[in-house]
Amino acid sequence: MEGLGVTEQGSMYHKKPILPRCFICQNWIDGYLRAMNIAIPDTLPQSPFSLVSDILNEAKARIHPNPLAMILATADTSGKPSSRTVLLKKYDETGFVFFTNSQSRKGCQMRDNPFASLTFYLEPLGKQIQVEGSVQLIDPKASDLYWQTRSRESQIGAWASAQSREIPPGDDFKSRYANFKKKFDTVAAIPRPSHWNGYRVSPKRIEIWFEGDHRLHHRICYLKSGESWSVSRLYP
Ligand SMILES: Cc1cc2nc3c(=O)[nH]c(=O)nc-3n(C[C@H](O)[C@H](O)[C@H](O)COP(=O)(O)O)c2cc1C
Repeated sequence: MEGLGVTEQGSMYHKKPILPRCFICQNWIDGYLRAMNIAIPDTLPQSPFSLVSDILNEAKARIHPNPLAMILATADTSGKPSSRTVLLKKYDETGFVFFTNSQSRKGCQMRDNPFASLTFYLEPLGKQIQVEGSVQLIDPKASDLYWQTRSRESQIGAWASAQSREIPPGDDFKSRYANFKKKFDTVAAIPRPSHWNGYRVSPKRIEIWFEGDHRLHHRICYLKSGESWSVSRLYP
C-alpha cells in the first residue's frame, strides 16, 4: 500500500517523505544520503563527540520537522521520574543545551535534583543517542542571545505561559497572551523573563545505539571520568 512500508522485523510503518523528490536530482540525493549514513566506525573514537555530532548532522539533513527533538527525563528529590520532549538548540563538547521555563515542573525538578537524561530516537536513521549527566543553567547572556532570535509572538507566549501550572477557572491562555501583547505594544525589544532560561546537560555517559538486522543491534557506551572518556560495547 502506498505510504506504508514493512520493516525487516515484519512490522508496518508509515513512510515519511524525508526530502522532496525530484527526478533530476534524485540520484544525487540518494548518493548523498548513502554517504551520510553514519555507520559504526571500525575503530571507535576515544571521545563520543565526533560520532554524536556526525549523527546529529545526519538527523538535520534527513529528519523533518524537529530533527533535534529529544526526550528530557528529570526526577524529583524522592527519585520519581518524569519526562517530556524539548528541542536541542546547541551542542558541543561541554554539553547539550535546551531552553525552558524554570518555574515549570521540569524546571523545579532540575533546581532540586540537578541531573537529567536526554534521549534522541532517530527512527529514519535507525539510531538512538542517550545522554546522562548533571544539568545547570547556562550563562544568562547566552540565554539573552538565543531569546533575541525568537519571534515576537513566541516571546510574548513565553511571558504569557505559566508553564505546567493549572489554568484557573475563568482564566485562559488566549486572554493572558492578549494582555501581554498589549503590555509590550510600545516595547521594541521584549526582555527575556528571568524564569525563561537555557540549561546545559554536561554528559557523563553517552550511549549510541545502531539498529541491526534481526534485532542484532549495536550499542556503544562512553563513560567520562575526569576529563577523559572510556568506551565499551554492550549487548543489545
Ligand atoms: C516537539 C516538541 C518540542 C518541544 N520543545 C520544548 C522546548 O524546547 N522547551 C520547552 O519548555 N517545552 C517544549 N515542549 C513542550 C514540553 O514537551 C512540555 O509539554 C512542557 O515543557 C512542560 O513540561 P513540564 O510540565 O514537564 O515541565 C515541546 C514539545 C514538543 C512536542
